Amino acid sequence: MEEVFRLDREYLAQTYKRLPVAFERGRGIFLWDLEGRRYLDFVSGVAVSVLGHADPELCGAISRQARRLIHMTNLVHIREQAELGRELAGIAPGRVGKFFFCNSGAESVEAALKLSVKHTGRKKIVVMENSFHGRTLGALSATWKPSYREPFKALLLPNFQFIPFNDLSSAEKAVDEETAAVMVEPIQGEGGVRVASREFLPGLRKLCLERGALLVLDEVQTGMGRTGRWFACEHWRVEPDIVTLAKGLAGGVPIGCTGATPEVMDSFKQGDHGATFGGNPLACSAALAVIRAIKRRKLVRRAERMGRYFMRALRELEEDHPCVEEVRGKGLMLGMELDQEERAEEVLLGALRRGFLINVTAGKVLRFLPPLVVEEAHIDALVSTLDELLRGRGG
Ligand SMILES: Cc1ncc(COP(=O)(O)O)c(C=O)c1O
Repeated sequence: MEEVFRLDREYLAQTYKRLPVAFERGRGIFLWDLEGRRYLDFVSGVAVSVLGHADPELCGAISRQARRLIHMTNLVHIREQAELGRELAGIAPGRVGKFFFCNSGAESVEAALKLSVKHTGRKKIVVMENSFHGRTLGALSATWKPSYREPFKALLLPNFQFIPFNDLSSAEKAVDEETAAVMVEPIQGEGGVRVASREFLPGLRKLCLERGALLVLDEVQTGMGRTGRWFACEHWRVEPDIVTLAKGLAGGVPIGCTGATPEVMDSFKQGDHGATFGGNPLACSAALAVIRAIKRRKLVRRAERMGRYFMRALRELEEDHPCVEEVRGKGLMLGMELDQEERAEEVLLGALRRGFLINVTAGKVLRFLPPLVVEEAHIDALVSTLDELLRGRGG
């Protein structure tokens, strides 16, 4: 692996804080590094590999499509894209029923922002403190973290107003007749697995309706069954005007998607937006295979059940270890906030040495995003390792 680390340092932009490991292959929740050592993957490429690694059904769909037609321009009709639109309309929240395809979460946010402004003719976007919406300039303008924003301040858009997450009275003050949209993650992922309160999303929904603004839900991380519902907003029974989706949608083949109610999406006219790779046959076939696999194997229900099991085990750790400040999340999107960043880093590296890939976000929040196929035995193995690491027996 040392050779890979050396090439990385010499030839790659050093934008990522990478763990000292590189993987050769995977199967289900398991990964093998370049030296043949096995790991359990509780990150799933950050909520991407929903079916786990090398899923035979997904691999079959990808290879069949690759042999037929990998790419096709959006200057013609694309059968797989049309079919994916129909499939998504069947699972999307509320009246969301028309879709634009792109290649990433950030791009899906860009489309949502442009569509909001086009549909309403307004210019202000209300967003949340602790939000994360991506690194392109529009998405970054909506992203809270100062260290991500500051170096590029000169290029950020001025039209974004941040309000505290879960604070409806601030929203009441911020949303006005200039507001095109309120954009929010139902569970803030990068921001530290922070769950919207019971009142917040329904309150925003009502406020947006009253003031003529659109409600944009960023479900890039929470979508595709991750939280025990197809879309996290179902937990709050809230229906968005626009929803963004990416990560898990095609199980690892790059794809992004902006969905909207038909009357909102129809505000996009020919020439208003586009993406060369957006919704190409390969990505769409992969997404169709993922959706069908999730349905047939009932993985949304499974995410809810396993999530409950996982959450209970993490809560027991919370009781036993004073260094655990809070456990939160829904389904298989769980976070455990520790008392110190150094401890979170120690647990992260200790877990890796013991063959578990986990993640730390927002400094000191251990984040767990296993594939939806995770089993109780995998969770038990991680939890007993965490128990030892939190006791300070990192090894
Ligand atoms: C809620 C949310 N929105 C947008 C993004 C950006 O997605 P991408 O990295 O695919 O551009 C992320 C990525 O973590 C995310 O969690």
